[in-house]
Amino acid sequence: MSPTVLCALEDIDDPGGKGFVLGDGRRIFVIRRGAGVHGYVNACPHQGVPLDWRPDVFLSVDKSVIQCSTHGAQFRIEDGECLSGPCLGSALRPVPVAVAGGMVVEG
Ligand code: FES
Repeated sequence: MSPTVLCALEDIDDPGGKGFVLGDGRRIFVIRRGAGVHGYVNACPHQGVPLDWRPDVFLSVDKSVIQCSTHGAQFRIEDGECLSGPCLGSALRPVPVAVAGGMVVEG
């Protein structure tokens, strides 16, 4: 299956994030830092709810970690590992994303 184009890299704040609903209904989000991107399923391991309290807000105020808006769990951007909060010891589910020709692609 060919990769799905999500958006242009420039469409995501640096650093920042963006949520997507894929054609098959999966909700994912992408975090950008510079030219690098990391993708995860948009579901908190604690209660399975989306992490963003408003669209495309996935990072903590200082933008150093991913933060769940419901109970404040924090996750490492690089691998989704929970660093603090009620789901300590679990992690976000990764989604393969990459940058190709200035576009963010999934798959
Ligand atoms: S639902 Fe995310 S920390 Fe509770």
